[in-house]
Amino acid sequence: MVSSCGSGQKASREPTLKDYFQDDFLIGAAIPVYHVDGMDPKADSIVVLHYNSVVPENCMKCEKIHPEENVYFWDDADKFVKYGEDNNMDIIGHCLIWHSQLAPWFAVDSLGNDVAPEVLEQRMKDHITTIMTRYKGKIKGWDVVNEAIEDDGTYRQSPFYRILGEEYIPLAFEYAHEVDPDVELYINDYNMAHPAKREAYVKLVNDLKASGHRVDGIGIQGHMGMDYPDMVELEKSIEAFAGTGAKVAITEWDMSALPTIRETANVSAGETLDMSQFQNPYPDGIPREVIEEWNRRMGEYLALFKKHAKEIDRVTFWGTYDGMSWRNDWPIPGRTDYALPFDRSYELKPFLKEAMQN
Ligand code: XIL
Repeated sequence: MVSSCGSGQKASREPTLKDYFQDDFLIGAAIPVYHVDGMDPKADSIVVLHYNSVVPENCMKCEKIHPEENVYFWDDADKFVKYGEDNNMDIIGHCLIWHSQLAPWFAVDSLGNDVAPEVLEQRMKDHITTIMTRYKGKIKGWDVVNEAIEDDGTYRQSPFYRILGEEYIPLAFEYAHEVDPDVELYINDYNMAHPAKREAYVKLVNDLKASGHRVDGIGIQGHMGMDYPDMVELEKSIEAFAGTGAKVAITEWDMSALPTIRETANVSAGETLDMSQFQNPYPDGIPREVIEEWNRRMGEYLALFKKHAKEIDRVTFWGTYDGMSWRNDWPIPGRTDYALPFDRSYELKPFLKEAMQN
């Protein structure tokens, strides 16, 4: 007998992203410290309801967690890990070795000159070992090396590369594996659809494996815009990365709805932004045709990720709702962007609502 919609009937549960994607991949979000501190209750209810994985937006980065030699600041990272545990989420550590947001002391001596290779090796080892040991058994996987390769496939001229050469990457994976043979170890980068970058990562991961190193996953950050990345090239990267035997993850997904700015200043090298490029066309709300196009594009990438759900282990958005996205301030600060799956009223955007109806 078909029951009627009488008042006695229990209201159906709100459909959640984690239910919807349960046969596909983990679904996650990056969260800032104020979120963990309970200062953004609406974002908090979104994360607790919809996500089964979290990554810290900043609090585990070197400049935050290891601001001076032999000085670690654990408070925020501890709270973040507890938050993930309390909510039964798969917790991702981000990130151990990265040129950006690197504590200023890390690669220099007291005069500000590059340290000797063996000093940097020891500092990397201490950093990786101390942090991973503290959270051993609590974290599913670590971004061990972040943003090591340029878009043209060459090594980034980071302090690590300048001082240690290519060897810094196998060393980082070696140190991480020594701490915990059970935690997953990832390498992560942006613009992964660029063919030269794709080839460089495939070679790097294959070489690491051939030399006996463990790399469990390749992270495609997935910072997108209205005219990139090329869908066909992105699919080739997903397939090529999976071909190495590593798990693939979309680790920092967002899509700027604003005009793409190609030239970005290297702020850490002292460059300033070219503000003549400042364009902030939608400070008071995004025109309907633009947000429709944004949703259409996000829906297409989502369909691609679902198509490759066998190879993709996790999809993580870089934030929760538009108002808190780093894209409002990058590559130029002070714009109003619309980059995330929930809007400024904490409403789920159409591309996901529609997907969940199918
Ligand atoms: C960003 C954060 O979202 C910002 O709050 C911070 O000011 C800069 O870094 N690639 C990464 C992330 O791996 O850690 C970056 O996060 C975005 C680009």
